[in-house]
Amino acid sequence: MSERADLQGRHIVLGLSGGIACYKSAELVRLLTQAGATVQVIMTEAAEAFITSVTFQALSGRPVYTSQWDSRPDNNMAHIQLGREADVILVAPASADFMARLVQGRADELLSLTCLARPRDRCALLLAPAMNREMWSHPATQRNAQQLRDDGTILLGPAAGQQACGEVGDGRMLEPAELLDELVAHFQVKHLAGQRVLITAGPTFEAIDPVRGITNLSSGKMGFAIARAAHEAGAQVTLVAGPVHLPTPRGVRRLDVRSARDMHDTVLPLAAEHDVFIATAAVADWRPAALSEHKIKKEGKKVAPTFELTENPDILATVAALPQAPYCVGFAAESEQLLAHARAKLVRKGVPLIVGNLGPATFGRDDNALLLVDADTERALPADGSSADKLTLARELMRDLATRLARQGRVRAGHAAPGEPTDPPIH
Ligand code: C5P
Repeated sequence: MSERADLQGRHIVLGLSGGIACYKSAELVRLLTQAGATVQVIMTEAAEAFITSVTFQALSGRPVYTSQWDSRPDNNMAHIQLGREADVILVAPASADFMARLVQGRADELLSLTCLARPRDRCALLLAPAMNREMWSHPATQRNAQQLRDDGTILLGPAAGQQACGEVGDGRMLEPAELLDELVAHFQVKHLAGQRVLITAGPTFEAIDPVRGITNLSSGKMGFAIARAAHEAGAQVTLVAGPVHLPTPRGVRRLDVRSARDMHDTVLPLAAEHDVFIATAAVADWRPAALSEHKIKKEGKKVAPTFELTENPDILATVAALPQAPYCVGFAAESEQLLAHARAKLVRKGVPLIVGNLGPATFGRDDNALLLVDADTERALPADGSSADKLTLARELMRDLATRLARQGRVRAGHAAPGEPTDPPIH
């Protein structure tokens, strides 16, 4: 559930065409309204064979439209009015037949008519295909999917997996929570369009023996929130994650690592392919100098074992020193004197931006407070020194980053989302 009301003020037309996945769309309506959106449901006749409009009327709090001859709108033109009110149209499930109808520009029932008549410059059309794997992989459907993309339609999924028919393959509709994330991302400003962003997140684990190791309390939440926010802002994102228990944000390429050296060896070859490197990982400064091949046993030992430690490579400083270094952002988790430590780290790591946060106050939590420190300025997020949830902060940080990249002439060719959304600053 979104606590940030990410879709506050958005009006979504949710179209249902025929498919067993209609049952998932009931949950989707709940998620959308919980996220602050208003939802107008349109169902095709085939959709009504799978689930009744009563369910959707109850969940959306609005009468459902099913016919182009519905005379309720004042102008008696439901297809025009519903499309004009919408910020986006999402058809979920989108059946093979419905996609074929859209390709042909058919307009003999309300949903396809509304899609055709929508103002395309400010109301995108998103489809969540759902069908049997043979239907999805059929050349006719693949041709239609490509034609729809070429026409500017955004296809979400389908996913692979177990299908209602008992077969396994591509064609499952995305889950309601995934569709929610896609819609939320759709409305974010594409500040980082075309940028390739590499992020490290989470702790590292430095093995002592096959069952023990040294790690820290980083949950990875801030780094994962940044990965999501960067993707939402239009970037291509690679996330190198230490051992954490977090789902991969949609659309993000994730590479799992364990130790600082694994992280270093994974990041270094990737650095040159990225425009920005954001090091949020809490990398262990030291590791045991020697790894015991077998579990260190307690039995028969009179004195506790001692370990020699050796220093880990500094990933951020190494990347920042590369000849073609991406724009580097470091994180500083401190327990006191945030500004002084962040400034010192800026110089020590040779990076243009350090983001300070109070480690003990943020590790494992959903909220945080950031201090953005560069050579000349510092900026607190939120501005009033309070705290905010990590995704809200990550979005603001991405916006700030985009401004810094633009100032350095590091802008890449990109485009804003249709109907450029409002993006109020956080306070
Ligand atoms: O040196 P310190 O740990 O205080 O610096 C923190 C910043 O440096 C973070 O951005 C962290 O991800 C990065 N770092 C790193 N490799 C290390 C230690 C820290 O990339 N070995």
